[in-house]
Amino acid sequence: MNYYNRMKDKFEKLKTKKDVIVLSIESSCDETSVAVVKNGRDVLSNIIATQIEIHRRFGGVVPEVASRNHITAISNIYKEALSAANITADDIDAVAVTYGAGLMGALLVGVNFAKGLAYALDVPLIAVSHVYGHIAANYISHPLLTPPFVCLMVSGGHTAILRVDDYNNMKLLGTTVDDAVGEAFDKVARVLGLQYPGGPEIDKLAKQGEPSYKFTVSNALKSTFNFSFSGIKTEVVNLVHNMTQRGEEINKADIACSFQECVTDELSNKAIKACKAQEIKKLVVAGGVGANLRLKVKLTKLCGENNIEFFSPVLKYCTDNAAMIGSCAYYMLKDGLGLAELSLTAKPNIDL
Ligand code: KG4
Ligand code: ZN
Repeated sequence: MNYYNRMKDKFEKLKTKKDVIVLSIESSCDETSVAVVKNGRDVLSNIIATQIEIHRRFGGVVPEVASRNHITAISNIYKEALSAANITADDIDAVAVTYGAGLMGALLVGVNFAKGLAYALDVPLIAVSHVYGHIAANYISHPLLTPPFVCLMVSGGHTAILRVDDYNNMKLLGTTVDDAVGEAFDKVARVLGLQYPGGPEIDKLAKQGEPSYKFTVSNALKSTFNFSFSGIKTEVVNLVHNMTQRGEEINKADIACSFQECVTDELSNKAIKACKAQEIKKLVVAGGVGANLRLKVKLTKLCGENNIEFFSPVLKYCTDNAAMIGSCAYYMLKDGLGLAELSLTAKPNIDL
């Protein structure tokens, strides 16, 4: 019997197994991460090798450099994850991997490592979407959190509002029509001469500034749950270039603060509006921009005023990590979803 047919049976049995240990792998961008997660919420280990310092000198992620560094790191990170979790490879019930969305070459390193491992251990391979992984980061941080809830997904690659009816059943309410919000943060940071990644730098600098510039987001999407951030991004870039040309002094902290105020107003107002429209009293934030302090402050306040419970992942699970992939995989396997064949390949883009 070939691998996939053998796995169908094993996969089915995991649905009812009492304790399920998932070894998960994440390599979609510039973090190589391997985690061991028990029963979806108990993180036994979560090792992350970040390449931030390597890419910083280029001002952003260089895909080829990212892939090469994943290759160098992944075997050791895997061994570290096993040892930190105090388990052996024989304890692994399933291997889960991010197969998209992300950088093709970077994803392929994780996918190929996962395929080899699942085959060698003769355990099921589970293909996980990075975006759904970000949502699952909340299950780790909040042991009692269960769907249904509204999710504000804010990362470097995605910006969306989803209604999460169940672990594997969600509906897209709105998405960005152009740039992801993380992309806008990174671009604005770059034009202000801040280092990569820009989001956390804007977050820090904005604390020292005032919202003295009146930036705007498009009014055309006001009545929808869609977003547009390319306009405000261009507005900031043009302002900085014009001021530079005129030799004017640029108050970077004020620009960072004004940009952040405008963007976080837009995100938080639409997220609350979605909760009200869907009559759902739980709001969950997911993705790297969810680490933004100002966004969290606004969401906490607005949720309090509207009697909505607010959840966001603890900082280390906001940005890319393998534990969230292991959590997501657990809820997929419980519903019999995601079993992959050894022909699994990486997908740079995945629809929400
Ligand atoms: O979720 P993530 O780690 O990777 C993707 O799936 O894209 O998100 C990365 C994005 C980057 O654009 C980064 O600048 C942004 O999240 N980010 C932040 C903060 N921390 C990370 N943006 C604003 N404020 C932060 N504190
Ligand atoms: Zn991510």
